[in-house]
Amino acid sequence: MSSTKTALQEPFKKFSTWLDKAVATKEIVEPTAMCLSTVAEGGVPSSRMILLKKFDERGFCFFTNLTSRKGKELNINKNVALCFYWGVLAFQVRIEGVVEKVSIQEADEYFSSRRRGSQIGAWASKQSHEMKEWSEFEERIKTISADFAGQEIPRPPFWSGFRVVPKRIEFWEEGEFRIHRREVYERDLEGWIVKRIYP
Ligand SMILES: Cc1cc2nc3c(=O)[nH]c(=O)nc-3n(C[C@H](O)[C@H](O)[C@H](O)COP(=O)(O)O)c2cc1C
Repeated sequence: MSSTKTALQEPFKKFSTWLDKAVATKEIVEPTAMCLSTVAEGGVPSSRMILLKKFDERGFCFFTNLTSRKGKELNINKNVALCFYWGVLAFQVRIEGVVEKVSIQEADEYFSSRRRGSQIGAWASKQSHEMKEWSEFEERIKTISADFAGQEIPRPPFWSGFRVVPKRIEFWEEGEFRIHRREVYERDLEGWIVKRIYP
């Protein structure tokens, strides 16, 4: 297959099929877990695992604390990479693109779907900042729980989501003797160009 143009929804359909397969194995603890790499000032990368919470033809969404290390890095540099690995299937998906913030409505909707304990945790955690004592964090959890007792917990202003708008998506399937299959989708103005590359 030489490079060909393909429809806008094509790589998302394929991603959806692969994620469904990963979920269906019931052997993968967190099938939506993905490695997110960001870039700090000076071009230094950093990576961490996060959870994919939703995706569609616009991109792949995750949620986090905006004042965290990743939050700060995303503010400076919108270029990111995501990587999924589903070992049982021997599948890898690599996504590269730029982030945009999700809408206020999307962030509120997802925050309100979280369990109360996680909502309190989001308020209490100064994610990625130095903690003097563990007891300080416990105290914050207690205070916040008391402050919101008997009421719905609103989304903290420092907590939201990002959508990774992909420019490149690679599907990798392991083959015997390292004869892997690699299929790469690259975004152009109308849709995607798909091609195979050597393993
Ligand atoms: C499987 C897994 C899923 C995670 N999901 C999230 C997530 O969705 N959002 C998040 O902020 N942190 C998540 N974390 C924690 C991050 O890996 C990380 O510790 C945290 O976001 C702080 O990263 P930072 O200091 O680079 O900002 C997850 C960790 C693991 C191991």
